[in-house]
Amino acid sequence: MIKHSAAQPIGIFDSGIGGLTVARAIVNHLPSENIIYFGDTAHMPYGDKSTSAIQAYSIKIAHMLLQQHCKLIVIACYSATSAAYELVKEYVASKAIVMNVIDPMVHYIHANHAQQRIGLIGTRQTVNSNVYKKKIDKLNRNIELTSLATNLLASAIEEFGNNNVIDSLLNEYLSHPTLKNLDVLILACTHYPVVKKNISRYFKDKITIIDPSDIVAHAVKQRLIEDNLLNPDGIGTKHFYVSDYTEAFAAGTKTFFADEINLEHYPLWD
Ligand code: DGL
Repeated sequence: MIKHSAAQPIGIFDSGIGGLTVARAIVNHLPSENIIYFGDTAHMPYGDKSTSAIQAYSIKIAHMLLQQHCKLIVIACYSATSAAYELVKEYVASKAIVMNVIDPMVHYIHANHAQQRIGLIGTRQTVNSNVYKKKIDKLNRNIELTSLATNLLASAIEEFGNNNVIDSLLNEYLSHPTLKNLDVLILACTHYPVVKKNISRYFKDKITIIDPSDIVAHAVKQRLIEDNLLNPDGIGTKHFYVSDYTEAFAAGTKTFFADEINLEHYPLWD
């Protein structure tokens, strides 16, 4: 591994602004870190793209984050993690640490939810890749995992936040037989933490709903501590870039990141 310094930024990328839920958790856990967020709004949604397209986008974004001297890159998108994590890791090699949003969750499940029936909702790419299922089956903890692609949910959350339009969409998806008799439901899409309460209400608060954002942020912190790369006290700089800037994206950031942020255009594809 190339020697890094603690002051170098953490790069976080997603298909769009949904990954701000993960960025928010990372900022909360690590307020002194310098952060560069990149949302590929020009290609959003990734959930319906081919694996090869998501791989090509992810490599180019990782390249850009390396040019910005990131010490650690977080793939803050479940679809991109499913399609491109191994490839990005290979591409980045020793130039930075690469983390994703699925592995910390799998470790958490291993420690806390053995022998349970676990449901997962995410995009078509995340569900069809079967990445979660393969990793969870490998744990050999007698966990039964069932998954459902809830394709329209991410764009509906961007449009409506968490209002009652979302509740009728949730009724439609969550009543699917695949999600019957669960102990736990994993929210495997960056957008879904915004409607965690609605989902909990649908299940009458009877099952555990897991938003992986904090679990991922905790894992990032642990990794920085292990590698002696935690930035010392102070307020870190934060940059939030998107590949296609619109007023709607700028307004939408409030849904996913509690504080006001300044969205900047980064013309990666021009
Ligand atoms: N960020 C994506 C994910 O977590 C959801 C939105 C999209 O399809 O691009 O899978």
